Amino acid sequence: MKSRQAKIIGTGSYLPEKVLTNSDLEKIVDTSDEWITTRTGMKERRIAQADEFASHMGTKAALRALESAKISASEIDFILVASLTPDYVFPSTACLIQSALGAKKAASADVQAACTGYLYLLSMAKAFIESGQYKNILVIAAEKLSVITNYKDRSTCVLFGDGAAACVISAEGKGLAIENIQLGADGDLAELIVMPAGGSRKPASAETVANCEHFIKMAGNEVFKQAVRRMEAACKDCLEGARLTENDISWLIPHQANSRIIDAIAKRFEHLPSERIFKTVQKYGNTSASSIGIALDELLRTHPLKSGEKILLTAFGAGLTWGAGILGG
Ligand code: ACO
Repeated sequence: MKSRQAKIIGTGSYLPEKVLTNSDLEKIVDTSDEWITTRTGMKERRIAQADEFASHMGTKAALRALESAKISASEIDFILVASLTPDYVFPSTACLIQSALGAKKAASADVQAACTGYLYLLSMAKAFIESGQYKNILVIAAEKLSVITNYKDRSTCVLFGDGAAACVISAEGKGLAIENIQLGADGDLAELIVMPAGGSRKPASAETVANCEHFIKMAGNEVFKQAVRRMEAACKDCLEGARLTENDISWLIPHQANSRIIDAIAKRFEHLPSERIFKTVQKYGNTSASSIGIALDELLRTHPLKSGEKILLTAFGAGLTWGAGILGG
């Protein structure tokens, strides 16, 4: 092990209480529980309250991560937040969470890598910790996707949910070593998943609102193929980079975008039984950047890792962006 090895020393997550079921969606758009279940594996997703924002959810997840790491907010040097749905374009959601936590000495910034955000942040935190620049970093993903979901578009509105995840990363104390992370991107395919308006290219106007351009637009079929291809390749590269094989992996946590995508990736792992592929997609839908962080927190709380066990994380999202990472117990 290197002299400074970045480790996840505590995790937390937060899901809003309100549940949106497939039968609720049947009342809103022309869909059915049967279609949603067979095409996505989703049964329910969580929806934040009107006055509950990304920063609120992120703060709750962060408090749980700090508690599990047994350190206080005043010891955090840097707060990194991944979100497609920040409270504001600026100031950053990281600054709002820094204030809510009273993490006075923490530098704070948002990073945008869509559904791959949590992995991008783990990679950055690892670099900052192992270079010796910072001692304790709080990584947070927080999404209120319900506000950018068009509940008149049945091809997207069944997919997304709200929620947040967090972890504390440090070189000190006991935890899960961040052993290797491989990231990728392909901006040539940026138009496949996009929120067309609200940025400098198309500022908000009466016309953009009338045209429903402040919602997620996605070419579902093409995204599906890319998601399978990119996550499979990222897992392979990440294992090779760490000189490991699938036999060394105890759990796979894939991005929770669609059960069929997860099953297609799982098929490539000949020796990993299906009960070792951790799924929350049926309960929470796709929570974008928060997705693998929520699943990681839930896995560690329900199935504590034994010494030597390893977790493989993989994610994919708008950008396009993708990646995989190995955590060691
Ligand atoms: N209920 C009933 N019928 C529906 C629904 C629905 N909710 N949605 C679409 N359909 C219909 C379509 O209209 C189409 O009908 P048609 O054949 O008469 O034209 C039919 O079902 C098939 O539609 P497809 O789009 O081909 O369905 P598909 O099997 O591809 O499933 C889905 C769509 C679930 C979106 C899938 O393509 C998918 O999961 N894509 C990947 C999503 C993803 O990975 N996103 C990750 C990134 S997200 C981010 O970064 C924010």
